[in-house]
Amino acid sequence: MTNTSPAAAGSFDDLRVDGDRLLRRLTELSDIGSITGTTGSSRLAFTDADRQGRDLVVAWMQELGLDITIDGIGNVVGVWTPEAMSPANAALAPVMTGSHIDTVRTGGRYDGNLGVLGGLEVIETLATAGVVPHRPLAVAFFSNEEGARFPPDMMGSLVYVGGLSLEEAHRVEGIDGATVGDELARIGYLGSAPCPGLVPHAFVEVHIEQGPVLEEAGLDIGAVESVQGISWTEITIEGQSNHAGTTPMRLRHDAGFVAAEITSFVRRMVNELGDPQVGTVGMIELHPNLVNVVAASAKLTVDLRNTDNDVLIEAERRLETCLEQLAESEGVEISTRTLARFDPVVFDSGVVDLVELTAKRLGAATLRMPSGAGHDAQMMERVCPTAMIFTPSHRGISHNPAEHTDRHHLELGVNTLLGVMVQLAEI
Ligand code: GLV
Ligand code: MN
Ligand code: MN
Repeated sequence: MTNTSPAAAGSFDDLRVDGDRLLRRLTELSDIGSITGTTGSSRLAFTDADRQGRDLVVAWMQELGLDITIDGIGNVVGVWTPEAMSPANAALAPVMTGSHIDTVRTGGRYDGNLGVLGGLEVIETLATAGVVPHRPLAVAFFSNEEGARFPPDMMGSLVYVGGLSLEEAHRVEGIDGATVGDELARIGYLGSAPCPGLVPHAFVEVHIEQGPVLEEAGLDIGAVESVQGISWTEITIEGQSNHAGTTPMRLRHDAGFVAAEITSFVRRMVNELGDPQVGTVGMIELHPNLVNVVAASAKLTVDLRNTDNDVLIEAERRLETCLEQLAESEGVEISTRTLARFDPVVFDSGVVDLVELTAKRLGAATLRMPSGAGHDAQMMERVCPTAMIFTPSHRGISHNPAEHTDRHHLELGVNTLLGVMVQLAEI
């Protein structure tokens, strides 16, 4: 999709989404699984809180009269085909938007939710104004984007585009021992719509930036050109538990020490490789985790990301060497499991242009930029022209209940989404 003409559709120019309704819905959704004393929420994928969030959004989709389908991984797609649309146009592939409504355990209210409720807002605004786009529009919420309970992240959209089989996805075991298939059935979202799913004409997702770039530069909207590569590894260390007071240091096989060494190695290595390489040890468990016992075993996760796949591969290689050396020097056994591995993704330049030009038409100061976080859009790019719209994140804080984006920027992001969707429908 390279010949995108920003002047193609004029009908959206005077239309603005209803900011009050958007904020009301964001608040109502964030009340499900709300974290006391904060504005954030906890709705890990396929939990009861996730089910309640799903039920609420499905109810809003029903009120809008969308044609709703649920597939075998619990992705929910609502298609809007206005009654006044001609049968020929109604038969065209829709322009799709969407994101996710699951959260990390300590999530904010905007991550993912903005993209889904923003999509509803676009459709409701157009429907209320009697605008009939050239094609149907669709809004989706994809299952388990966060991957925090069940790896990998973007699981629902990955299955949607055929990148992971349903059977494999259903078998994935979570951090609490439950499996995806059982949990989907338990919450009533094991649907029957086929996977891979309907291929849209184009896909565009609005999301908070989750980093500091836009706010620090005093900018309003990011036209997202790419998503960096992601590498998640789970590392298990088997040492030997022993008495903390009597065991000479030379006789120790201390899994806790090795976990700490890996953690500090990741930081040192990332500093050496330099920007934009990032690395995180987000989870460490020690066993038996007692004050006077040398740890027998440890489990930790390493999250490495880079826009440059070659550097990411180099970081993975260095981590592997570090593990081999530690296993040897400390006399422990170290095993690894890949939880997620996605190459960097480049979005469709025509859709990126359209995002940039549409935001500018709305008076936004814009930046073409990469995404540091993973997104459902990076999976949709495998099947159709795709790009994303970023709104600023206050102090760059995300995956934290304190996540915040100003109302003005939320509205600007969703108004940009509206303009982009209407224009994409005409191309
Ligand atoms: C998923 O949202 C991630 O970027 O970790
Ligand atoms: Mn997200
Ligand atoms: Mn997230």
